[in-house]
Amino acid sequence: MAPVKIPNYLLLSLCLISLLCFLPTGECKYSQMLHRRGGPQLSAAGVAPPCRAHTVNLKDFGAVGDGKTSNTDAFKKAVAELAKFEKQGGGMLVVPPGKWLTAPFNLTSHFTLFLEQGAVILASTNISDYPPIAPLKSYGRGRDLPGPRHSNFISGSNLTDVVITGNNGTIDGQGQIWWDKYHANELNYTRGYLLEIMYSENILVSNVTFVNSSSWNLHPVYCKNVIFSGVTVLAPTNSPNTDGIDPDSCSEVRIEDCYIVSGDDCIAIKSGWDQYGIAVGMPSENISIRRLTCISPTSAVIALGSEMSGGIRNVRAEDITAINSESGVRIKSGVGRGGYVKDIFLKGMNLYTIKWVFWMTSNYGQHPDDKFDPKALPNVTGINYSNVYAENATMVAKLEGLPDDHFKGICMSNVTAQVIESKLIQWNCTNVEGVASGVTPAPCALIHNQGPGKPCAFPKEPLAIDKVIINQCPFKGCY
Ligand SMILES: *[C@@H]1O[C@H](CO)[C@@H](O)[C@H](O)[C@H]1NC(C)=O
Ligand SMILES: *[C@@H]1O[C@H](CO)[C@@H](O)[C@H](O)[C@H]1NC(C)=O
Ligand SMILES: *[C@@H]1O[C@H](CO)[C@@H](O)[C@H](O)[C@H]1NC(C)=O
Ligand SMILES: *[C@@H]1O[C@H](CO)[C@@H](O)[C@H](O)[C@H]1NC(C)=O
Ligand SMILES: *[C@@H]1O[C@H](CO)[C@@H](O)[C@H](O)[C@H]1NC(C)=O
Ligand SMILES: *[C@@H]1O[C@H](CO)[C@@H](O)[C@H](O)[C@H]1NC(C)=O
Ligand SMILES: *[C@@H]1O[C@H](CO)[C@@H](O)[C@H](O)[C@H]1NC(C)=O
Ligand SMILES: *[C@@H]1O[C@H](CO)[C@@H](O)[C@H](O)[C@H]1NC(C)=O
Ligand SMILES: *[C@@H]1O[C@H](CO)[C@@H](O)[C@H](O)[C@H]1NC(C)=O
Ligand SMILES: *[C@@H]1O[C@H](CO)[C@@H](O)[C@H](O)[C@H]1NC(C)=O
Ligand SMILES: *[C@@H]1O[C@H](CO)[C@@H](O)[C@H](O)[C@H]1NC(C)=O
Ligand SMILES: *[C@@H]1O[C@H](CO)[C@@H](O)[C@H](O)[C@H]1NC(C)=O
Repeated sequence: MAPVKIPNYLLLSLCLISLLCFLPTGECKYSQMLHRRGGPQLSAAGVAPPCRAHTVNLKDFGAVGDGKTSNTDAFKKAVAELAKFEKQGGGMLVVPPGKWLTAPFNLTSHFTLFLEQGAVILASTNISDYPPIAPLKSYGRGRDLPGPRHSNFISGSNLTDVVITGNNGTIDGQGQIWWDKYHANELNYTRGYLLEIMYSENILVSNVTFVNSSSWNLHPVYCKNVIFSGVTVLAPTNSPNTDGIDPDSCSEVRIEDCYIVSGDDCIAIKSGWDQYGIAVGMPSENISIRRLTCISPTSAVIALGSEMSGGIRNVRAEDITAINSESGVRIKSGVGRGGYVKDIFLKGMNLYTIKWVFWMTSNYGQHPDDKFDPKALPNVTGINYSNVYAENATMVAKLEGLPDDHFKGICMSNVTAQVIESKLIQWNCTNVEGVASGVTPAPCALIHNQGPGKPCAFPKEPLAIDKVIINQCPFKGCY
């Protein structure tokens, strides 16, 4: 049946008559984590969060979007104002089009940060605006340098129900100054991250763009129930450590429909560093990644580690595309890390220009200090890779376990790698054990060829976080 079309003149007269035609661009929507399909409801209170009851515009707090005026006070006041409504329906801060320069600011609970199309939040480039804060317990020190680390740009601690969304507005770290000082060894502390959410649950980041972080872009740490949906992350491919999304000691994380260009790993799943990570003992588990597009010429599409001392388990990745990366999935570990990487499932990865299709490293040498335990060896087992296609690959695999600690239970099925003419060895395997089915070029002897038709495992039951529905709230305030 053809849709009924209302002639424009009729619409116009209807509008005039009803005096309701103040919405020429239509209404916007914003996303909200709702509840689990067929399961218990998600939010801490056990009820689906309603759309936010209170909305304020950054401009109401005296902000000026000229890219030069500092809006630090406006952001602080706006968040403080909305924090009053945490228990009364929650609040939304709308950032209108413009360039809004600010020093770091904190988020609050039951809160939505909504960036309209054309809204850019610009991070201050004054390093004094980033005072040192305590290092993460599971790292024991800053990642770049011992001791504390600079503040993150946007932070949230001990929160529940936080949404960062909009019509693809931008959060810009203006990282160049940090990269220059990092390369010149001029920093006194480790760089902060663009967004760090700590000890929090029910977090949704959707339809926003993050650019030019000083270091890692998105860093949920010690969190549960986190969704990244339709997120773009952009950084120059030569910028230092600008990882896209780094779930760290987090469980129930869903990353979908994201586009990431990075100077490091597009996604890196982590869980703390050597003895500090072992002591905290918080794994990253139950993580699903779908429909990711990645460009990361100097690093991995998906890295597991190198900081994995709290353990990484039950990670699923599906429908992954990379255009020029160093490796597909890379397991990074080493002596002193301890922990484990297990039950990893990849199904469907297309790689166009790739150095190593598969890479597992057991000699990652960076340690927080010399007090790591040389007997703490990683336990790498249950690694399943299926339906992988690679074009313009330099080498197929470098799989490297440890003499007293083989990486085991590796499975590869339905893999086709078109390797460029090269004198380099295509498979280099040491101290690993596994099986292969339908893998071209033929695998190394340690990955036993079982003949065709034996696909690697992939779990049928979705994760709890996969069942969460994203609700769309109508919002009439768009410019
Ligand atoms: C993101 O935006 C797209 C198109 O603008 C929309 O269809 C989708 O629902 C949005 N997703 C979320 C999670 O807000
Ligand atoms: C953010 O909150 C932390 C406490 O979690 C506090 O120490 C810090 O000063 C706050 N930062 C800003 C910019 O308000
Ligand atoms: C940099 O920030 C510090 C502290 O926030 C402030 O005292 C100083 O005036 C700022 N410098 C510039 C050039 O804005
Ligand atoms: C945040 O939560 C952590 C872990 O539960 C706790 O150790 C810390 O004291 C909390 N911080 C605040 C400011 O409540
Ligand atoms: C969002 O903006 C980024 C940067 O401008 C762009 O690359 C991306 O395609 C946009 N996403 C959508 C869904 O429009
Ligand atoms: C990121 O920073 C680089 C280097 O300063 C700059 O060339 C580029 O335009 C910036 N990217 C965006 C999206 O602003
Ligand atoms: C590092 O510390 C020194 C001495 O306090 C100070 O002069 C310098 O500005 C600091 N550098 C940065 C990038 O903060
Ligand atoms: C991870 O998922 C399994 C089921 O797949 C569940 O038993 C376990 O409790 C989940 N872990 C966390 C921390 O939610
Ligand atoms: C490694 O993991 C396997 C499988 O979960 C388990 O049987 C084994 O005991 C673990 N080894 C160590 C050293 O933790
Ligand atoms: C093998 O992988 C390709 C993608 O590389 C996929 O199109 C094809 O369906 C897979 N075959 C089977 C039997 O799963
Ligand atoms: C193939 O990969 C090499 C790097 O190994 C790169 O220089 C070249 O441009 C790629 N070719 C194509 C057609 O993408
Ligand atoms: C294979 O990898 C080992 C380290 O695991 C390295 O020592 C060796 O040189 C590599 N062999 C080749 C031919 O690249």
